[in-house]
Amino acid sequence: MTIMSYQSINDVINQLFELEIHSLGMNGDGIALSHVLPERFSNEYRFYVPGALEGERVLAKVHKIIQKKIFCRLMKVIAPSKDREQEDCNKFLDCGGCNFRNVNSNWINKWKIQQLITKTEPLKIKDKILPLSSSEKSKRRRVVFSVQANNRNFYLGFNSRFTQKIIDIRSCKTMNSKLTELYLKLKLNLNQFIIKKSNFKIKVNYLDNGADILFDIKKQNYKEIFNFDQLIQFLISLNTVRVSFKTNDRIQIVQFNGKNQNTLGKLSGKILYSLPPPGGFLQPTKEGEREIIKFVIKAIHGSKKVADLFCGSGTLSIPISQSAEIFCVDSNQSALSGLKEALKQQKSLNKNKIINQDLLSLPISHKILKDIDAIVLNPPSKGAKTQLKEVILSNVTNIVYVSCNLNTFARDAKFLLENGYSLEWLKPIDQFPNTMHLEIVSKFIEKK
Ligand SMILES: C[S@@+](CC[C@H](N)C(=O)[O-])C[C@H]1O[C@@H](n2cnc3c(N)ncnc32)[C@H](O)[C@@H]1O
Repeated sequence: MTIMSYQSINDVINQLFELEIHSLGMNGDGIALSHVLPERFSNEYRFYVPGALEGERVLAKVHKIIQKKIFCRLMKVIAPSKDREQEDCNKFLDCGGCNFRNVNSNWINKWKIQQLITKTEPLKIKDKILPLSSSEKSKRRRVVFSVQANNRNFYLGFNSRFTQKIIDIRSCKTMNSKLTELYLKLKLNLNQFIIKKSNFKIKVNYLDNGADILFDIKKQNYKEIFNFDQLIQFLISLNTVRVSFKTNDRIQIVQFNGKNQNTLGKLSGKILYSLPPPGGFLQPTKEGEREIIKFVIKAIHGSKKVADLFCGSGTLSIPISQSAEIFCVDSNQSALSGLKEALKQQKSLNKNKIINQDLLSLPISHKILKDIDAIVLNPPSKGAKTQLKEVILSNVTNIVYVSCNLNTFARDAKFLLENGYSLEWLKPIDQFPNTMHLEIVSKFIEKK
């Protein structure tokens, strides 16, 4: 098909193009202008090529179009960038897990900091950014596997970036060694316990004493899919602390072998831990978690009453509770039950308040917040815009914002800066090596 004969933009699907990559987008995808297309498309559309680097000339095949983005599969690097290195994983680009395995760690660190600077450029906070701390590679302790099983085939791995297929990862450079070991055993054995065609997810958090495994079965009855008793016996042999099944949003714990403990580190001579629920939120690496806690504790220093909004099972609240009264809020009831139990076991439940509330639709009112000395917010990637409207009305002087999303962080930081707060410092923490993600702990104070 010649370029001029494209009738609709969808005609480019599966076509090959030679492209000049002029920059990288937020997700680390190479971006090229689309002069290769007829003028009526070229002004509007851009090509996005995961795995291509700035300045490269590449051959790319169109995979799908979302809004004005033409996503392509990298077929060949014709003129490589001087930064390009040999990829260290043969599933890179097939598997959606990593954004960069074709450049070294220094390059990735610089790129992440540059993204942070660019996103927050209008806020003029560059001189408040502290040096980046990075987790080591192969330390990820939480993962979600996809499974497809029928009479003929069995797949267990990660979702593909480009197809409906599940990518068999064999050895993954992101997971920690215990998860890799568990993955290989599941891959080798799980199929013999499956008796009915099924598609499901396996969510694993690797805790202190072993794997916490949640089968997310969606609508099927888990007892009908598996040869159940044998499956449980097999899972027990894999050093699991807990096995649970989720069907229609209901979680049932079927096996509990040990404590679902996640040690958070030592504070004032005491070893602290949380008790995450099945499939509950866990910071991706232990090192990342320690660094986040360290900077949050530094930020709330001297506060006697602290609100931990979006507290989950208490990664931050439990350390904070060692020096302050805490007011914790989250929408996940099972995470809050874990937090309550952990505080009780560590004898710091007294005086503290734990509230189950959806903070995005019903934020905690400024009237309740006004007696608090410091507010910690660690929202999901959507950010905390609604809750921040109440925060600024409360006149609490110390705000600690922990974020895993640069876009919503920049939006919410702008809101705080426009409403009487200034940024004291911002600590970037990389607990997602080889991806585009970055974690931030930041401290804002109200200008007097
Ligand atoms: C990034 S996690 C942080 C959890 C905790 N700070 C930690 O480090 O373990 C975000 C938390 O926000 C909670 N969350 C998500 N949407 C929420 C909402 N609309 N209202 C309240 N909490 C919400 C989740 O349950 C989760 O615990």
